[in-house]
Formats: sequence, C-alpha cells, structure tokens
Amino acid sequence: MMCALQLLFLILAATASINAVTYDVTVPTEWWQENVLYQLWVKSFKDSDGDGKGDLNGIKSKLSHFVDLGVTCIWLSPIYESPMVDSGYDISNYTSVGTNFGTLDDFDALIAAAHELGLKVIVDFVPNHTSEEHEWFVKAKQGIEPYYSYYVWNKGVYYGDYLSYPNNWLDIFNEGTVWEWVEEREAYYLHQFGVHQPDLNWTNPLVMAEIKNVLTFWLDRGVDGFRIDAVPYFVESSTLKNESRSNVDVDSTNYLYLNHTQTKDQPENYPIVKEWKEHINNYAAAKGNDEVRFICTEAVSDIEYVMKWYDYGDDVPFNFFFIRNGDIAINVVLDTAQDIYNIFVKWLDHMPSDKTANWLLGNHDINRIASRVGLYRTDGLHFISLLLPGVFTMYNGDELGMTDTYLTWEETTDVRACSTTNTTYTLYSRDPARTPFQWDNTTSAGFSTNSTTYLKVNPNYVTVNLAAEKEADFSHYKNIQKAIRLRDTTVWREGTVDIEVIDDQIVAMARQLDGEDPIVVLMNWENSTTTIDLDDYFENLPDTLELVIADMYSGLNDNVGDTYDKSSLEIPEHGSMVLLGVCSQNHH
Ligand code: NOJ
Ligand code: MG
Repeated sequence: MMCALQLLFLILAATASINAVTYDVTVPTEWWQENVLYQLWVKSFKDSDGDGKGDLNGIKSKLSHFVDLGVTCIWLSPIYESPMVDSGYDISNYTSVGTNFGTLDDFDALIAAAHELGLKVIVDFVPNHTSEEHEWFVKAKQGIEPYYSYYVWNKGVYYGDYLSYPNNWLDIFNEGTVWEWVEEREAYYLHQFGVHQPDLNWTNPLVMAEIKNVLTFWLDRGVDGFRIDAVPYFVESSTLKNESRSNVDVDSTNYLYLNHTQTKDQPENYPIVKEWKEHINNYAAAKGNDEVRFICTEAVSDIEYVMKWYDYGDDVPFNFFFIRNGDIAINVVLDTAQDIYNIFVKWLDHMPSDKTANWLLGNHDINRIASRVGLYRTDGLHFISLLLPGVFTMYNGDELGMTDTYLTWEETTDVRACSTTNTTYTLYSRDPARTPFQWDNTTSAGFSTNSTTYLKVNPNYVTVNLAAEKEADFSHYKNIQKAIRLRDTTVWREGTVDIEVIDDQIVAMARQLDGEDPIVVLMNWENSTTTIDLDDYFENLPDTLELVIADMYSGLNDNVGDTYDKSSLEIPEHGSMVLLGVCSQNHH
C-alpha cells in the first residue's frame, strides 16, 4: 500500500518530466541471487599453526566473522597442491589440499562447520592451465600420451636455418612470448599466463572428461559452487595468426603491446562453461536432491563479451568494471561522479533481462579500493553496490577499510611484478592488496602467533583492525554491516532501481516499492557540500527520510536517526548517506 501523500504525488507527477531511468529488477528466488559473497585470500586470512601463512583451520576458527557481517557465501582462493609460483593459481594436483593449507579432512571439517552455520562455500577452479609440476605436464614433457595432447604444442617455424616460435603472441605476465621450448620434445608449449603455467588444450575432449571428474570430486565434498578462473583464455585461435600492434606505447614484451584478437574471448570458450554447468546440475539431479549450486566466472573483457557468459549457464559473470577497463592490463579510471555512475549503469544497461546483476569493488589482483579512491569514498561505493539488486562480492579486509601495504622490491613476491624492474614493479605488484587480515592489535594483527608472516602485516593494523572497529561507535565495519542488513528487506529484493548523477558531483540511487520504505543512497564524490531537492530527481518519495547510515568522514555520525526534508537535503563534502523514506505503517 502506498502512503496517501505518495499516491497524490504520483498522480501529480504523472506528466512531470523527470529523466530518471528506471530498471526492472529480477526478484531473487535462489539463495545465490542474494549472495554477499566473500572472497578469502586464504594464505592471508588466519594462520592456525603459527607458520605465518593462513590455512583452512584458521578459516574454520573465524566463521563467526561472516555470520556477524552478514556474508552468505565464502569463496576460497586456490587451496590445492601447488608450487605457489602464482599464489596457487598454478595447480599441481586438482584433487588435493596443499600442505600449507591443511588436509582434505580439514577441508571437510570446514565445509561441515560452515554449513552448520548456514554459510555456503565455493572454491576457486582454475582450468585454463596447470602448474608445470602437475603429473599431466610432467608426463606430457616425456611425450607420454594421452597427456602430451592435454597441452598446446607447436613445433615452431623455420626462418632459413633458424627455428622460432609460430607467432608473436605474448603472455599476460609480461614475460614475452607465450611459447616455451622443450628440448626433449623439440616443441614449444603455450602459456597464456606465466611460463610455469602451461595452458590445457581445450579442444581435446579428454581434458573435458578429466576436468569434469575434478568438479565431481569437489561436489562430492559438498561445495556449493565454483569461481572459474580466466575463462576468456581457454581456447586460442587455431589459425595461429599474429596479433596486431596496439596503440599503447610499451615495451615489446609487455602484454599491452598487442591487441588480443587471437588469444582472448574466442567463441569456443563459452560452450565449455555451459557444459560444466550442465554437469553440475546433472550431479544434483542424479543425487536426487534439488540443492542449487552456482558458478561465477572471471572474464575481464569488453562488456559484450562479458554479458555473453550469461547466455551460457553462467550465473554471475563477475562485474570487473570497478577494476579494469575491459582489458586485464588496464586499470579503470575512477575520477569523477560521472565515472562512477557510468560504471553502474553500464552493467544495468547491458544485462539481459531475468539475469542477476553483480558488483564488486576489489579483489586480489588490484590495489585495494580504499587506496584507489580514498577511505572517505569507500563506504559510499559499498552502500550503492550493496543496495543495488544483485550479488555483491567483498574482498577480505575491504569491510575494515584496509589499505595497500607498501612492500619494497626485495619484499615483493608476486610473479607479475617479479618479471618487471625495481623501478616499475609497483605498477604490477598485487602483493600490497594481499597482506594479512587485520584482526586486532596483538602480534601480527592477530593473524598469526608468529611475528614473521609470509607477507608483512600493514603497520596500520594498530588502529585498523576488526576488534577496534567492533568496539568503535562508528566504523567501516559497522557501516558495511548495516548496509548488508538492509538487503534483508522487500524493497531491496523487489524494489525498482533509479540511479542518477547530480551536478557532476552526487551519485544518487533509489529503490522503491509500493507500501515499503524506500531506500535512498546519496554519495558526494567531491570536496564541496551541496544541497539538493530529491523531487528533482526521483518521483514518489515521501516528504521525510530518516538517515540510517552515514559514512564515517561525513560529520553526520551523530545525526543517524534524524529525519530530513527531501526538498532540501544537504550532502556534506565526500559524504555518503543512506536514508529510509518514512512511509510504511510498521516503520520503526
Ligand atoms: C586470474 C587470477 O585472478 C590471477 O590472480 C591469476 O594470476 C590468473 N588468473 C592466472 O590464474
Ligand atoms: Mg588457454
């Protein structure tokens, strides 16, 4: 039921010319559609045995953190056996747990404990490449079939007497060619990522069969889904054509040197994921249960290519537009309110109907969001992202406002940075966003009893830590927790979406539904205070709105609970506000 005033306004406004674009909303019916998905960088989350590295038992001991925050599903970064050249994205055994992380029994215990608390668990799944230490590749190098054909080989091309690789393709870690010579085989293997990560041959049906067995193995252990790594890179063009020169001025070994038309986003990639989704669905059917599992994919590509994943059984193609500009090597620009608005509407404008939107602000491959936009803007971005419809993916530590940790060249371990130089590595290193989670102000931030940790702890842990933020009246943690709680409303699930950019300064978003208190989020991106009349931008709002969350730097903390007149709303510099329209009878 609408408020009487609202109804009156609706009649009056029927001919008003407000340009708001209103989006239809897919009402969630499955658990994953309401996910607050939490990405755990396992090695940095919680160390249970004092070796300075995070592990599965550590996670198990901290499950209450997810329940408290309102997280519904956790995603574990790779926990498998691995030489850890690329932090576990180089897997040497897909059906194992790496000794540093624990054992399969620890994994089973973690799943059981999580499920007990109503939490879902998904695992990282890395099928584009294995580690060079995987048994399949070891045998492939010896020429043993069928394993040799599990990988992508090429005999090379003669230029006169001189043998070289077949084309100019470059690897993503800026090491140069994707082709690596193996003397024993007199052939090159292909690696789209690092040289220690040979690509699997996704045109070989035997590879599909092996990998389906891997999925079954983890389904048998009770996982609720998979995050699938590097989907745009599965199949490379069989023509082996050279890629053209880009217009970016970089060194010829830099990935940005070429346009990746032959090695990325090939049409053959999509049906592969579809086949896995069918396999996962068939698994549930065969077990005679109706447990729904979900998949999400990592595709940093242009929007058309990303959206296409929705048509191939992918529940959530990750929305990376707050991270990269379509290209895995180009960081997005987040300078103005218009930039921010454009990113939100880009997804809403392109998403096919009946699909679930998704938002994320950070991950393990980029500098932390708080360091990219400033702490005073971090909460506002979270408020909008969490209160738009769809899945939100949170990178561990972002709920505390953790910032990048400065690491020297000597301290840097990331493979992507180590192939660069001591003057350029900070442009490439992913370590600053991967340092230990800050639990409290004790030794190693409560992450480990060991005072030496595999990556050093950010010195700001003394004040920036979960315990302190729980203690404080106002904190990033508490704000984000409150925003997550607001997802538990009918207006969040079913309400319409309006999003606006106001005076190049404010990003404003409203969710409305008949008879429900509307949610309005206002984020002032700039450092000047401004006053707006909400009626100029949104129809049907009630006259007064209650401030329910204010970002910590807005100066409005003490005003939480106050009501505001919609016709003259002052938004402080860099301030973000979440307001609830005082409308329904049962408002409290
Ligand atoms: C994407 C992952 O997010 C990244 O961390 C990793 O290096 C590559 N895939 C290779 O697996
Ligand atoms: Mg590939």
